[in-house]
Amino acid sequence: MADAQTAGRPEAVTGTGTGTDEAALLAEGGLRLEVSGAVAAITLNRPERRNAMTFATWRGLAAIGRSLPADVRVVVLRGEGPSFSAGIDLGMFSGEGGGFPDTSDPEAADRLIAELQEGYTWLRRPDVVTVAAVQGHAIGGGFQLALACDIRVAADDAKFCMKEPALGLVPDLTGTKPLVEIVGIGRALELCLTARTVPADEAARIGLAEIVVPRDGLDGAVRDLVDALLAVNPGAAVATKRLLWQAAENTLEEQCAAERREQIGRLRELFGG
Ligand code: ACO
Repeated sequence: MADAQTAGRPEAVTGTGTGTDEAALLAEGGLRLEVSGAVAAITLNRPERRNAMTFATWRGLAAIGRSLPADVRVVVLRGEGPSFSAGIDLGMFSGEGGGFPDTSDPEAADRLIAELQEGYTWLRRPDVVTVAAVQGHAIGGGFQLALACDIRVAADDAKFCMKEPALGLVPDLTGTKPLVEIVGIGRALELCLTARTVPADEAARIGLAEIVVPRDGLDGAVRDLVDALLAVNPGAAVATKRLLWQAAENTLEEQCAAERREQIGRLRELFGG
């Protein structure tokens, strides 16, 4: 039910179909979720810490993925304030926000990291198109979150940095695969092993951002993109995303077979049979 804060705005929910447990997790993780019809907007909402992320943030993202309403077709991820995300909350190095996994039990540590990765992996699901709207810094886990999305729209002040190796870590929030797929192994090595910051114009040039716009045009550019994505036939969008994401792994023969299968499904849906 709309209250004074939400009246006159799209239906806003914190935790879809959920309950207080998920709402509490999103609040703890600094996440805001607003669902309006076919569009879900996830906002990293700790601007005073440049949207630094904790275990609760990653668990919250995973929970959103699990409970997203079936009619959502586009998910937009953005960061409140000057930066998209400064990555892991550095307070965690001193035990805040959950501390690090106990590596004396490698299986438990493996399970924990896998659970956190679930906050990212669902963003490739074919039933939704995911869009990262990036302004300011996207560092470490923040950069990887942008990489986990299907499409990145960046403001001209965006700066991408894979900082983990500089801190003695590896990028482990699903980012190494899309990074290599997008920029190639040589560039990925150069970026990660120097932890250098990539400015928006270079990001556009090497494919890290599909669209770059002036900072004050970011929201408008994302709105236009979302409108264009929603204008396409929903079933065709799902089938095409499924096809495109498997193209790199498939042989030509496998991909041709996948195209035939998907097209037969589309034809059945459109014309019966
Ligand atoms: N964790 C916790 N707090 C943070 C983080 C972070 N990752 N990043 C910024 N903050 C806090 C700052 O401590 C500061 O707090 P304060 O106001 O209490 O002093 C506040 O956010 C604002 O930060 P500034 O540095 O003043 O903001 P600015 O816009 O000048 O710089 C920047 C932003 C570049 C992101 C800088 O804060 C920074 O380099 N942060 C650390 C980034 C980092 O190393 N992240 C880890 C990546 S590795 C990984 O994600 C696994």
